[in-house]
Amino acid sequence: MAEGWPIPSALVFMLLSLSAWALGSCPAPCSCSKGQDEVHVLDCNRKKLSTAPLDPPDGITQVTMNHNELTVVPFFGDASSNITSLSLVHNRISELLMHQLQPYVSLETLDLTSNSISELKVGSFPSMQLKYLNLSNNKISVLEPGCFENISSSLLVLKLNRNRLVALPSKVFKLPQLQFLEIKRNKIKIVDSLTFKGMDSLKSLKMQRNGITKLMDGAFFGLENIEELELEHNNLTEVNKGWLYGLCMLRVLRVSQNAVGIIRPDAWEFCEKLQELDLSFNHLTRLEETAFVGLGLLESLNLGENSLSHLGEGVFSGLASLRTLDIRNNEISWAIEDSIGVFEGMKKLNTLILQQNKIKSITKKAFEGLEELEHLDLSKNGIMSIHPEALSHTKLKVFVLNTSSLLCDCHMQWLGPWLTDSQFQQSVSAICAHPASHLGRNVLSISPEEFVCDDFPKPRITTHPETSVALRGNNVTLNCIASSSSDSPMTTAWRKDGEVLYDAEVQNYARYQEGELIYTTVLHLLNVNFTDEGRYQCVVSNHFGANYSNRAKLTVNALPSFLKTPMDLTIRTGTMARLECAAEGHPSPQIAWQKDGGTDFPAARERRMHVMPDDDIFFIANVKTEDMGVYSCTAQNAAGSLSANATSHRPGNSILHATAGRPNSGPW
Ligand SMILES: *[C@@H]1O[C@H](CO)[C@@H](O)[C@H](O)[C@H]1NC(C)=O
Ligand SMILES: *[C@@H]1O[C@H](CO)[C@@H](O)[C@H](O)[C@H]1NC(C)=O
Ligand SMILES: *[C@@H]1O[C@H](CO)[C@@H](O)[C@H](O)[C@H]1NC(C)=O
Ligand SMILES: *[C@@H]1O[C@H](CO)[C@@H](O)[C@H](O)[C@H]1NC(C)=O
Ligand SMILES: *[C@@H]1O[C@H](CO)[C@@H](O)[C@H](O)[C@H]1NC(C)=O
Ligand SMILES: *[C@@H]1O[C@H](CO)[C@@H](O)[C@H](O)[C@H]1NC(C)=O
Ligand SMILES: *[C@@H]1O[C@H](CO)[C@@H](O)[C@H](O)[C@H]1NC(C)=O
Ligand SMILES: *[C@@H]1O[C@H](CO)[C@@H](O)[C@H](O)[C@H]1NC(C)=O
Ligand SMILES: *[C@@H]1O[C@H](CO)[C@@H](O)[C@H](O)[C@H]1NC(C)=O
Repeated sequence: MAEGWPIPSALVFMLLSLSAWALGSCPAPCSCSKGQDEVHVLDCNRKKLSTAPLDPPDGITQVTMNHNELTVVPFFGDASSNITSLSLVHNRISELLMHQLQPYVSLETLDLTSNSISELKVGSFPSMQLKYLNLSNNKISVLEPGCFENISSSLLVLKLNRNRLVALPSKVFKLPQLQFLEIKRNKIKIVDSLTFKGMDSLKSLKMQRNGITKLMDGAFFGLENIEELELEHNNLTEVNKGWLYGLCMLRVLRVSQNAVGIIRPDAWEFCEKLQELDLSFNHLTRLEETAFVGLGLLESLNLGENSLSHLGEGVFSGLASLRTLDIRNNEISWAIEDSIGVFEGMKKLNTLILQQNKIKSITKKAFEGLEELEHLDLSKNGIMSIHPEALSHTKLKVFVLNTSSLLCDCHMQWLGPWLTDSQFQQSVSAICAHPASHLGRNVLSISPEEFVCDDFPKPRITTHPETSVALRGNNVTLNCIASSSSDSPMTTAWRKDGEVLYDAEVQNYARYQEGELIYTTVLHLLNVNFTDEGRYQCVVSNHFGANYSNRAKLTVNALPSFLKTPMDLTIRTGTMARLECAAEGHPSPQIAWQKDGGTDFPAARERRMHVMPDDDIFFIANVKTEDMGVYSCTAQNAAGSLSANATSHRPGNSILHATAGRPNSGPW
């Protein structure tokens, strides 16, 4: 019976059966209708059928028998050969057999979603022209290599979602015409190299929710035309060039909801065309400077819902086409508070979402370079201060800011009028926390003269660490002094090249002077070596925010020391003298020669002294008697020079004896 049948369908059916379609009668309990472009539809959905209805009318090309009790692919007699689309969703078919499909010589679309098929064997498909095959929500655990061979020259779309695949055998997907492949919600943990080789036409691959832990190098190699790769809800831990190998046409990559903690340098070497990258809901804690190198065409980057705190300097600088950057719900504070233009380079950035981070203050340079910025979301940060010029160069149309932590002193006087002028009163809730007299008040309700600077609760750095040069092995100390009018305890940290030094030897002193809290922090670097070179900075924080010192450069030098020294030699005139000298040091020393204590000597003057490139050997060509004497080698760098006295048998010295016409007794 047609219980629950919507009346309009019944009407449509009646109208259509009165139309010009010269059919035999429509077999009960199904309905027949005429679709667009002479498509004749036989609809037997939800009829509890376990076989095909008898005597289907001539001319049908589409059959749907969804939600029935079929256990095998049904047979429609002569009509089968004209059927182009067969939908058997939600039946009990457990096996796909060649002879059952053989009558369907015209079939292009086969939907077997929600059946009980457990394997696809060689011989499942006869030679046919199938284009769309949906096998989602079955129990397929085995794909026999070669199972798709008979449909490989026609298949355009293949769906294998919600099955039980644990591995993808190599060569199973030799489907050169296939454009869309979906293998979501299986149990594939590892994707081997070259798994998808042989799918030159594939445009889109979806492998969400598999629990993939590892993509081997070259896992997607061969997908020369793929534009979209979706890998959400897996367990990938890194993005690297190995698994991105060869994905030269990729435009969209979604790796959200994984466990990605590392983006390797040069990961994107092959993906120059990438436009959209979603890395949200991962385990990223830091982005190295190199994280996005090569993504000059990227337009949308989602880094939301990670644990990012460290942003390498210039990490976004190559993203010249980026329009949307979402970094919501991370741990970002210092990367933005410190006055470096962390977003500089993103000339086209339109939308920047920084919601729910730990940004306390917005400095003048925070958004430097973002000339096209129209949409900025700073809500849920607890922002305390915003520099009046931080946003002046942008084209803001949407500004979201929710804070009840504002430090409403004279520096914040500008905010209320600016919010009003820019018509951001609606999107912004800016409430003061300090001074006590303004606690809980909206900046818009405070008159200009009430914004006063009676105190300076936020730390001010008064003494910055100084750039210095040290000899290797020496001790270096760097000092930083901050003051505040507040009693709020100060904490300090030292950073080297933007990285917090957790194990550093630090001494801190606090004292009161004329009602101010003066805080001194001293960093001791013992027995410095070249690895200590870098730019050091102290960060002083209290309840009201943080202040960042200048970055002091430390250079570590080492005096030169000789690796090779010249030896005395006696050679014939007219031949070539060979003198060795090499030294190490930091920075690399320069080698210079003197003869008898002077730099102006015949071999130099006459340009007969040569050095092999990248070598430690010096030559004097065409030796003359006036070349005889004591040659000394000097090694010099910024740390100093190592020179020798003009006496023989000391390192760096060489006595050259030139003899006429006799065999040489020197090293050659
Ligand atoms: C199959 O289609 C052809 C051409 O449209 C038509 O002549 C023929 O009658 C159809 N056969 C059946 C069994 O429907
Ligand atoms: C392809 O189909 C033909 C019959 O159409 C059959 O003989 C052959 O075994 C099939 N091959 C595979 C690999 O399924
Ligand atoms: C199976 O896939 C085809 C091709 O994409 C699609 O048209 C069809 O709606 C899918 N079937 C189900 C039940 O979603
Ligand atoms: C992901 O991998 C980690 C360790 O490699 C494991 O503890 C975790 O259970 C995995 N999660 C899923 C969803 O497979
Ligand atoms: C921010 O505060 C405003 C005003 O209180 C409110 O309308 C808006 O929903 C809040 N936005 C967020 C993201 O919390
Ligand atoms: C840090 O302190 C200096 C005064 O030493 C002040 O000019 C600067 O604005 C402060 N920086 C921040 C981010 O508050
Ligand atoms: C560096 O400091 C350590 C510990 O204070 C001390 O033992 C050592 O002699 C110092 N080295 C130099 C070169 O001053
Ligand atoms: C300094 O570092 C170099 C390697 O860069 C190492 O060979 C040397 O032993 C170190 N010297 C000291 C004094 O630690
Ligand atoms: C060079 O010679 C002088 C005097 O003979 C001596 O005092 C000095 O230490 C020597 N220097 C070197 C580096 O050998």
